[in-house]
Amino acid sequence: MVQNKARKSKQTEKRRVRRKVSPTKGKEITLSEKMTLYLNEALSMENAAVERLQLRIKQTKIENVKQRLRLHLEETREQQNRLKQLISDVGGKNPTREKTGLPIPWATKTMANMIRRMMTSAELELKATKEDAVIENAEIVHYDMLMQLAERMGITNAISVLSQSLSEEKAMAEWIRANAPDVLMQLWPEIDASIAKREEVQSVET
Ligand SMILES: [Fe+2]
Repeated sequence: MVQNKARKSKQTEKRRVRRKVSPTKGKEITLSEKMTLYLNEALSMENAAVERLQLRIKQTKIENVKQRLRLHLEETREQQNRLKQLISDVGGKNPTREKTGLPIPWATKTMANMIRRMMTSAELELKATKEDAVIENAEIVHYDMLMQLAERMGITNAISVLSQSLSEEKAMAEWIRANAPDVLMQLWPEIDASIAKREEVQSVET
């Protein structure tokens, strides 16, 4: 009886292990399907990036940021086209129109309330700049990994195409980083003024 139980649990364990090593449930995934999946993953990120860039261009009051975002919007549209072309090159159909969630730090309810209550529009612009940088750096990681996968899969013609997008993402991330002191310089007077007001309120209260 005990032996029976032990045998049964061993069999269950074996089944579990087998299931673990076969996550696609026995379905054969071709190289083309696999690469199409990865390319669509990147495309859904770029689809979301287009929407985000359009919103940021409307939002920002800093002229050189607006111009750089406009340029990157054009680049991002080209990146979408490159990914669609690569999907078709590997035999994929119907490139995705979906938009993935962008890696924007998620604020807790308490933090969101504090932000709403205490941040000036200048600080919201600063916050959006940090998010822009996070997004561009995430895109760098995506393209870098995608290029390595393409190399492993022997889809060598994709590498130079993806490297063009990677260099644009790197340039954008670097521009945001290098331009940050200038952004802060332009936003600081408004932030500074909000601090001075709060101090006055406090000194009146005490
Ligand atoms: Fe980008």
